[in-house]
Amino acid sequence: MSRLGKMLAVTGMLLLQSSASYAGSGSAGGVWLIDGSPAFPGLRMIEIHGRQGRYEGTVTSDWYGSLPLSDLHVRGPQITFRLDNGNAAVSPSPVWRLEVKGERAHIQGRIWYQTIDLSARRGAEGEARARRFTVAPLPAFTPLTPATDLARTPPMGWSSWNRFGDKIDDATIRRQADALVASGLRDLGYVYVNIDDGWQGERDASGAIRPNARFPDMKKLADYLHSKGLRLGLYSSPGPKTCAGYTGSYGHVEQDAGTYARWGVDYLKYDLCSGEAFYRDADALRRAYAQMGRALRATGRPIVYSLCEYGRENVGRWGVSVGGQLWRTTGDIEDRYHSMATNGFDRNGDPDDVNPGSWNDPDMLEIGNGGMTDVEYRTHFSLWALVAAPLLTGNDMTALTPATKAILGNRDVIAVDQDPLGVSARRVRRDGDIEIWRKPLADGAAIGIFNRGLAARDVVLKEEDLGAKRGETIIDLWAHRSLPAGTRRLKIACHGAVVLKIVSAG
Ligand code: GLA
Repeated sequence: MSRLGKMLAVTGMLLLQSSASYAGSGSAGGVWLIDGSPAFPGLRMIEIHGRQGRYEGTVTSDWYGSLPLSDLHVRGPQITFRLDNGNAAVSPSPVWRLEVKGERAHIQGRIWYQTIDLSARRGAEGEARARRFTVAPLPAFTPLTPATDLARTPPMGWSSWNRFGDKIDDATIRRQADALVASGLRDLGYVYVNIDDGWQGERDASGAIRPNARFPDMKKLADYLHSKGLRLGLYSSPGPKTCAGYTGSYGHVEQDAGTYARWGVDYLKYDLCSGEAFYRDADALRRAYAQMGRALRATGRPIVYSLCEYGRENVGRWGVSVGGQLWRTTGDIEDRYHSMATNGFDRNGDPDDVNPGSWNDPDMLEIGNGGMTDVEYRTHFSLWALVAAPLLTGNDMTALTPATKAILGNRDVIAVDQDPLGVSARRVRRDGDIEIWRKPLADGAAIGIFNRGLAARDVVLKEEDLGAKRGETIIDLWAHRSLPAGTRRLKIACHGAVVLKIVSAG
């Protein structure tokens, strides 16, 4: 019997046992089938069963599988409960209400951003069985040996999400790729073209994932990108649904990795999304990410593995052991200074977790998307380069302005990010709104002087900020000039940054 078959059989047996304890018709207990649910969370049914006045139950949905009801109270035809989708810190569950009227019930509640106000009908065990969710067991954890040939410097490229969301198709991706090449940015290292959420369609009869109709042939798209000296990145989730509601890899992890490899995929971003309901503790999370890491490794194709679980459970400490080369350290960036600054200064991960092939990811770039000033975008780029973050641009490459190109194309700042030593900057001084970060480089060091305040500030550098010795050259990487000898006072604009490179003498 296949693993899936066995799982179905076991689930079926458990269900037969539990069905014996259903409260009868007319009471609140039993199976409540839901037909008109919004796609998120795709509610299928609520099951409530009780014995001797003690009730328990589950809500089954397309997104979260089967979630246990907590705080469950049955008072005649009125039932109240709460639901925890694994994201209680961000969106705690309010009280849900189910009110029974004969063979129908009215359900009201909320989960994450979705308000629920639906009717349900009483169902029989057979109907419930057809709607139950099969739980796929996770393999035991065994660490993977670190890959020695992947992402030795932080990955660079373009990603669709920040500018296009899921409004993407084959033609858009090709146009962006062409523009990346024509702009000269590919030749500066931006080689990954990452299709984020929104490419997935349904699975075929054998369970293989198909792209949706907007992506007629993923292999051909990969071939096209490869012919341009670019690489293809894709996106999936360990949950049944991705964050935008597309098909995730749940129950098909190995099969999906094989499909990606056959298409010629070079990079996978694996986003927890609905998997947060399934993988709640550190062990489950690590096993879920290890399952895909191992599956990618088993394909024999070098595929950069980007973990996106928003920095949960200290991922920087175990990301390499599940085959990852980079991991998000925090939630989503937005195209505004305060969001960027929070991710970039305060949630950029632990510098100790950074090494060649092992990178903290404070999220993709917003440079050129219009929500910040050019000064702020220079700060964004400076900060990402100093902490050795991936440089994944998120703007419309076909509408690249000279100002955006000057930021993304600053070779000297790119070189700080891509320095072969592979070390992250650390904050060496904080004085109110002023922060000084220092990153050791193979041939010296880079210093970032940042002003997080709303007024321009004169900053007087101390010798220990620079770590400079007599005779060393100090270059301003945005002004493209050496500082006159002995310069220690710099004016930093509101929300601005200066990046200095200290070049060791000799
Ligand atoms: C999450 C991720 C984002 C993006 C979206 C896509 O929010 O953190 O980077 O991939 O999902 O739905």
